[in-house]
Amino acid sequence: MAKDFNSMEDSNRSTNPTIHDVSDPQRRTVLRGGALAALLSAMGPLAGCATSSALASGPKLGFKGIPVGMGDKLAVPDGYIATAIAAWGEPVGIPGNMPAFKFDASNSAADQAVQMGMHHDGVEFFPLEGSSTRGLIAINHEYTDDGLLHVGGFNNMNAEKVKKSQNAHGLAVYEVELKGGNWQMVRPSRFARRFTMDAPFSVGGPAAGHAMMKTAADPAGRTVLGTLNNCASSQTPWGTYLSGEENWMGYFGHGSSLSDHQKRWGARKDGAYQWDKFDARFDAAKNPNEPNRFGWVVEVDPMDPTSTPVKRTAMGRAAHEGAWVGVTKDGRAVVYSGEDARFEYIYKFVSRDKIAPGGAKANRDLLDHGTLYVARFDADGRGQWLPLVHGQGPLTAANGFADQGEVVIKARQASDALKATKMDRPEWLTIDTQSGWVYCTLTNNSSRGQPNQPGIDAANPRANNAMGQIIRWKEDSDFDGAGFVWNHLVLAGDSANARAEAKGNIKGDIYACPDGIVLDKRGVLWIQTDVAAAAMYAGELKNIGNNQMLACDPATGETRRFLTGPTNCEITGCTLTPDGRTMFISIQHPGETPSERSDPAEPRKYANWPDYRPDGRPRSATLVIRKSDGGLIGT
Ligand code: FEO
Ligand code: CA
Ligand code: CA
Repeated sequence: MAKDFNSMEDSNRSTNPTIHDVSDPQRRTVLRGGALAALLSAMGPLAGCATSSALASGPKLGFKGIPVGMGDKLAVPDGYIATAIAAWGEPVGIPGNMPAFKFDASNSAADQAVQMGMHHDGVEFFPLEGSSTRGLIAINHEYTDDGLLHVGGFNNMNAEKVKKSQNAHGLAVYEVELKGGNWQMVRPSRFARRFTMDAPFSVGGPAAGHAMMKTAADPAGRTVLGTLNNCASSQTPWGTYLSGEENWMGYFGHGSSLSDHQKRWGARKDGAYQWDKFDARFDAAKNPNEPNRFGWVVEVDPMDPTSTPVKRTAMGRAAHEGAWVGVTKDGRAVVYSGEDARFEYIYKFVSRDKIAPGGAKANRDLLDHGTLYVARFDADGRGQWLPLVHGQGPLTAANGFADQGEVVIKARQASDALKATKMDRPEWLTIDTQSGWVYCTLTNNSSRGQPNQPGIDAANPRANNAMGQIIRWKEDSDFDGAGFVWNHLVLAGDSANARAEAKGNIKGDIYACPDGIVLDKRGVLWIQTDVAAAAMYAGELKNIGNNQMLACDPATGETRRFLTGPTNCEITGCTLTPDGRTMFISIQHPGETPSERSDPAEPRKYANWPDYRPDGRPRSATLVIRKSDGGLIGT
């Protein structure tokens, strides 16, 4: 989500020192990059690859890079085929309840509750019985464009429109099958589900039952209805789906009197979607604890259609982009997550217990017990994980943290107190399980180095950072290490720009604002971009074109453009079948307006992908990518 509309990414007013005393961060980046190249070269040709031998042969990048994209069309390299399925409004396949999509947006809220939601984001393929031709897709529906969602758009909002908007958010699970050479939704399917704002989520971890989680409707503080603004996704080694609740605060109206806690989380007077006007749950003046029940990593077992999803509070509350699991040598889960907001933080959770054999059910409490840390990136290329543990350091009752529940609910304030490093909007992460490198996209930060804002530091080395960078770190010993080394894989940008901070150092095809990042089994790093519609095609971004997906060989840094999307879309989410021959990604908000809210009188003003119907409207969708010769994706 580019989300200038929500403007939720700008709440850190703490006075943590930034590591501003670095004399020459660009030079340091080069030196560390050189040291890294030497290290990777010493590790041999498969360094940087979570490879399986069956998929490792041949060059990593075997396709010809494509030009930058312009206009309302999607492009992939020669020899590739891309097909849209499961667009917004398609019935997910719940038996006996499959209302067809109406292109005039006249589907009811009840219809929307059993159809694909809007604004597809993180997406994961779960094979059925190990198959690469049949499986489940679990996917996030991050937010809505109410200008396209309703007849008459956002005008004359009412309770039915709010309900439809709520039902277009959340998560979906649908079944897919490769049949006759084409991937299709399997409908009906016993696995098909939607998780809307009516779906019960149980609460696990230290905030479960906490006083700050209790509401009139849930006096126990242990069951929350719905999940909000879900952005990135991942799969756990025990077979579940993780999703991050990102810009949830924008849905709440707080009135004009704000507490310090509410201010630190970017609370606003009125909700951006008018839910607070028609659903008292989102009126935080009346229900001040309701916002505390969002901002968590949620875990879903898509394989069990009767399972109840869980909000995992031990990993801290944040504007979570998502969460990604590594495994220590002794079998404990280490979950990395970031908070996509200007000057917010990167977190790590280490589970107390080892991952048990037996899948989701055997690990149903694994993510509820462990230790949470926040990252400090030091100027010497090293970093430290600072424990967010009640009673340690400043995290005491005297400083406003009564217990561990309050530490995780107020993770931003706790991280401020520990003087963690304020980052340039951490988005997706991906973990190279073999080499141990963890990659994180830092998408941009226009406020860096501006008056009365934090200045540059070694990890975030550019003022008015319009382009973004990819940072990576490697733990000292194992994934649970207390310290790490770090460097930048790349600073994004365009060497044609005049401003030094906007040039970047990409080796290959240019891009800006990295967001999605996924390392596949062949060791290819897929990079997806999210330049905001309001910023595209002009100024320092004029040569970058439409949002795109690139393939990078992390051992060499070579980067090739693989896909460009239709006008004003975002490219996000990336998952492959076990055989590496089908890739699913999300095309989010094609045709989005610079205001991020369409004029219902002109629904096709910027794009009409993928249907191109004269009476239609652009729709987010899952994109299925295959090679016409059936080969491995990326070759
Ligand atoms: Fe939903 Fe951080 O993008
Ligand atoms: Ca983004
Ligand atoms: Ca994102």
